[in-house]
Amino acid sequence: MKSTLSIILLGASLMVSAQQKTPVYLDVTKPIEQRVENALSLMTTEEKVAMCHAQSKFSSKGVARLGIPDVWSSDGSHGVSDEKLWDEWSSAQWANDSCTAFPALTALAATFNPEMASLFGKSIGEEARHREKTMLLGPGVNIYRSPLNGRNFEYMGEDPYLASRMVVPYIQGVQSCGVAACVKHFALNNQEICRGEINVNLSDRALQEIYLPAFKAAVQEGKVWSIMGAYNKFRGEHCCHNDLLLNKILKQDWKFDGVVVSDWGGVHNTDEAVNNGLDIEMGTYTNGLTTQGHFPFSSYYLADPFLKGIKSGKYEMAKLDDKARRILRMIFRTTMSANRPFGRFVSPEHSEAARKIAQEAIVLLKNEHNMLPIPVGKYKKIAVIGENASRSLVVGGGSTSLKVAYEVTPLQGIISKYGKEHVVYSMGYASGPSLYGREEASKLNADSLLNAAVELAKTADLVIFVGGLNKNYFQDCESGDRKSLSLPFGEDKLIASIEQVNKNVVVVFSSGNAITMPWLDKTPAVVQTWHLGSEAGNALVDVLSGDVNPSGKLPFSFPKKLTDIGAHAFDKLCYPGDSVNVQYKEDILVGYRWLETKKIEPLFPFGYGLSYTTFVYSKPSVDVNEVKADGTVKVSFTLTNTGKVDGAETAQLYVSKSKSVVARAAKELKAFKKTFLKAGESKTVNIEVPVSSFAYYNESKQAWEVESGSYSLLLGRSSRDIKGKVDVKVL
Ligand code: GLC
Repeated sequence: MKSTLSIILLGASLMVSAQQKTPVYLDVTKPIEQRVENALSLMTTEEKVAMCHAQSKFSSKGVARLGIPDVWSSDGSHGVSDEKLWDEWSSAQWANDSCTAFPALTALAATFNPEMASLFGKSIGEEARHREKTMLLGPGVNIYRSPLNGRNFEYMGEDPYLASRMVVPYIQGVQSCGVAACVKHFALNNQEICRGEINVNLSDRALQEIYLPAFKAAVQEGKVWSIMGAYNKFRGEHCCHNDLLLNKILKQDWKFDGVVVSDWGGVHNTDEAVNNGLDIEMGTYTNGLTTQGHFPFSSYYLADPFLKGIKSGKYEMAKLDDKARRILRMIFRTTMSANRPFGRFVSPEHSEAARKIAQEAIVLLKNEHNMLPIPVGKYKKIAVIGENASRSLVVGGGSTSLKVAYEVTPLQGIISKYGKEHVVYSMGYASGPSLYGREEASKLNADSLLNAAVELAKTADLVIFVGGLNKNYFQDCESGDRKSLSLPFGEDKLIASIEQVNKNVVVVFSSGNAITMPWLDKTPAVVQTWHLGSEAGNALVDVLSGDVNPSGKLPFSFPKKLTDIGAHAFDKLCYPGDSVNVQYKEDILVGYRWLETKKIEPLFPFGYGLSYTTFVYSKPSVDVNEVKADGTVKVSFTLTNTGKVDGAETAQLYVSKSKSVVARAAKELKAFKKTFLKAGESKTVNIEVPVSSFAYYNESKQAWEVESGSYSLLLGRSSRDIKGKVDVKVL
């Protein structure tokens, strides 16, 4: 009896002592801030500095001694990239990291459906969680200023309000999986030419009204846990260590409590990195002068030079503690959080999500003589022409390049839908290998490719041309911009040649940028499909066949010519700059803001997209005619599906102020709502808009200001197709 009692007492005492020994930072029942302070108090200066810079290409140190895990990250916004070698960009060739490729973010923006952003974030977040990532290096939300920017396909279009509404649920979805989203590239990374050094100059209004809102929403509404500094400079300082952007605006004004991580190679000096708000330095190319490896992490700006400066008193310990606190906070929110969910990788649910987002992203630009939809069995011989029908579009493009578990190409989708006995294929054009940083023309003979395609088109009942851009350098690709607005690889000539021999042509584009269409008048149907990822071919035929009624809207304008766009309406200094400075001379008039204010008709306007059905808007009404600056206005109208098929319509609400103390765009998107209606169904649609969103940024007061007076609220199907107007007076 005695021995049993003594064993029980011994066990209890061991438990008690064990409980006493569990430090606060490991106690998942304790508030995160207590755990952060406790961990910080146990760390040495060397351990704190070691957290602030890379230890490999995609990781930075935790504190092994204390059981605090390292911070592991992966690209990118539309798929979790494969594992890389320790300090190389090249693949580690693992056998278990082939992911689901989701649509690129321009496609997500084209859905105009925040529910799709939430589904997207949750799905990609589960893949990143399964791959044991602390941080997913996305979403990208840089504003589409020029149609030439090589990375527009990764971002969410030309309008700050659209990008703000879509980025928040994406971030919340990712972070619900216990993975930190990393919104990027903060800020003003709107071109790839000279991206590492170009110094961006613009007004405070353009900065605050156009280029910052999506980041501000990511921080204040999305509660994003990390943010990536951009490569470029802003007002003379690199964005990865920029006092105004990071200390003043991000951390002080917006109260960001997360981690600022540099873009890879975006850090250029220790003093600024220490003092101007950077927390983790990644990807710095050191000069290899030290002995450790060829990317000696100890010589990073925030490595030995930082430690030396702390020990000499040159840098305050408080600066180091703030960085370490933020990194610990991210770790306790992710890898050390109490209820971190498990992930899933390449699951059927992720394929369904990718397909659904892709279906809702596709934009029907033209559809005459009811060319579309194409019922199965209508055409005996369908000629599919174009390299993008069969080429992989998930490989290449820079850091978003993916190793995927599968990719259904448009050709595969068309064959599976319409039957291989009814489908013939000809490549039509060739673009050359997908290389990074340089372009290599195809060795195939362009004329023979074109002639073969035209011969095939002659014998077909229907031609589906699948072209656009691809992920080659100077196309939809990082670190370079496009050279022109035109289609590349001789596609214009090929489309025109096909249309000389066959009138039944459907043109399908995979691209993340606007293009010109000199053959448009002769083309009965045009479909814009973005870069849709693993489910591209399935989503395309879902729409072509009519199984899905297209509901996408353009997240950026398609101008008729490049100089119709503000960034290209001035001089070289305005775009791409003189290799030292670039001056945003179009100011707040980006995209449709320029086109509408200057009364320039686009090829296709922002917010444009057709359907297989038709919608009728009733005259809108407003719940109040006078409203205070802190009030809300509700616009109501009846939307009717007057066609024969179910469909969805995104009504857009633009605000306009004709008389103002400042220059204003002719109209600005301030609300939108996507409504699904059965054939013949009517619904009352209510769109609420806070009056605070009418504000402009008062540069002299350095604050937002709602101007009193009369405003027009324009209800539209696109930025040009306005269906009704109501006026309100702000008191
Ligand atoms: C790249 C990109 C950035 C990416 C990072 C890591 O250069 O600018 O978006 O996340 O480096 O690959």
